[in-house]
Formats: sequence, structure tokens, C-alpha cells
Amino acid sequence: MQSATLAGAFDELAASYDHRHHEEIARALIAWVGPGAADAVADVACGAGAVARQLAQSRADTARPVLAVDLSPGMIAVGRARAAGLERETAINWRVADAVPLPVADHSLDVVFCASSLHFLGRRALADWRRALRPGGQVGFTLPLATHFRPSELFSGHLARDVPLPHTAQEASRWATACGFTKADSRVHVLGARRVVVTSATSPDSR
Ligand SMILES: C[S@@+](CC[C@H](N)C(=O)[O-])C[C@H]1O[C@@H](n2cnc3c(N)ncnc32)[C@H](O)[C@@H]1O
Repeated sequence: MQSATLAGAFDELAASYDHRHHEEIARALIAWVGPGAADAVADVACGAGAVARQLAQSRADTARPVLAVDLSPGMIAVGRARAAGLERETAINWRVADAVPLPVADHSLDVVFCASSLHFLGRRALADWRRALRPGGQVGFTLPLATHFRPSELFSGHLARDVPLPHTAQEASRWATACGFTKADSRVHVLGARRVVVTSATSPDSR
């Protein structure tokens, strides 16, 4: 039976989720953005926390937890279980919630990551990230390349209509700029037969 809610759909998927695929995307995204070791960071619509867990591992000596927010309790539960081996249990601050708006004060984050999820969140997420980021803070997101994306029936009804899937890296950068970010830079990342666009951009200095 098809889940009526997006969270329900991801709850059902949680146990069979393709972690390898998403961990590779997370690796590419983190490398593209290059966050500082002590940055205040959020993993938006984190799922099982592919980005949050990799960051937490590389920041073992940083007191600051990575904020990881997702609508799906099932995905968060899998993420918590996969993070159980981390040195510090407090390395990730898991939250089951709508990630828009992020539960943070204005201009309090250095970096916002959003892997493979922005096409569910909608354009409103970018406005919220500009609110949450300090001036000059960075955003890193990935989107599927339009030509290589075939959403299943389960998910196609949940896609945000105001997030155009990019056909090229340049298209993704132009869109981030149109949404108010600066210094947008994108590339196409190839994973077997799949393609994702990886984008980094900066929140403007003047508000
Ligand atoms: C394709 S998964 C990607 C998860 C993760 N970022 C990764 O790279 O593995 C999309 C995720 O977006 C989450 N999601 C969709 N809309 C959301 C919202 N409004 N707030 C929080 N999470 C949301 C879903 O629950 C799901 O876990």
C-alpha cells in the first residue's frame, strides 16, 4: 500500500535504504564544500545521516554536535543505530521534525548541507537557509541530474514543483544564484549509471 505521507514512505524504505549510494554522495558533497572542523553545521533532511555521520567522524575532537533533522522517525532510527560506534554519543543532535524552518536561531550556522532532499523540501528551504546561515556561511546541496532521474510512484507525488532539477551543473549554479546565494559552483558527480549535481554556494555578506 502506498504511504499517504512522505515521512511514512521513508519509514517504509528505511530498512532497505541504499546507504552505499548515499554515503558516496555525502562524501562528494562534503569534499566539494570543505567545512571547517569547528563549524556549526546542519544536515537538512538527513535521512539516516550520511552527511552528519561522516562529519561527526571527522570532528571527533569538536564539542559542537552536528544538527541532523528529518521528518521520518524510521530513517532517524536507522541513522542513530549506524552512528552507535561513534566515539562521542553527542556528536550528532538528531531531531525528528520538518526541516523547514530549521530549529536554529537566525544567522547561527556556518554550513548547511542537504543531500538528495531539496527536491522534496521546495524552494522555501533556500530562503530558510539564508535566514539560518551567518553572512558568508556556506550551503552545499545535491540534486539528481534531470536526465537521470526516474522517481518511483511512491515519491513522484511528493516532489516540490518549484525546485527545477538541473540538466547541467551550470543550471544548478544559476538557480542557487537566483535564490539569493553567491559564488555558486557546481559539478556533476557520476555514480555508476546515476548522476547527481553537487552545488556549493555562499550566503550573501550584506543582509
Ligand atoms: C532521498 S532521502 C535523502 C536522505 C539523506 N539526506 C541522504 O543523503 O541519505 C530524502 C529525505 O528527505 C526527508 N524529508 C523530506 N521532506 C522533509 C522535510 N520537509 N523535513 C525533513 N525531512 C524531509 C525524507 O524523510 C528522507 O529521509
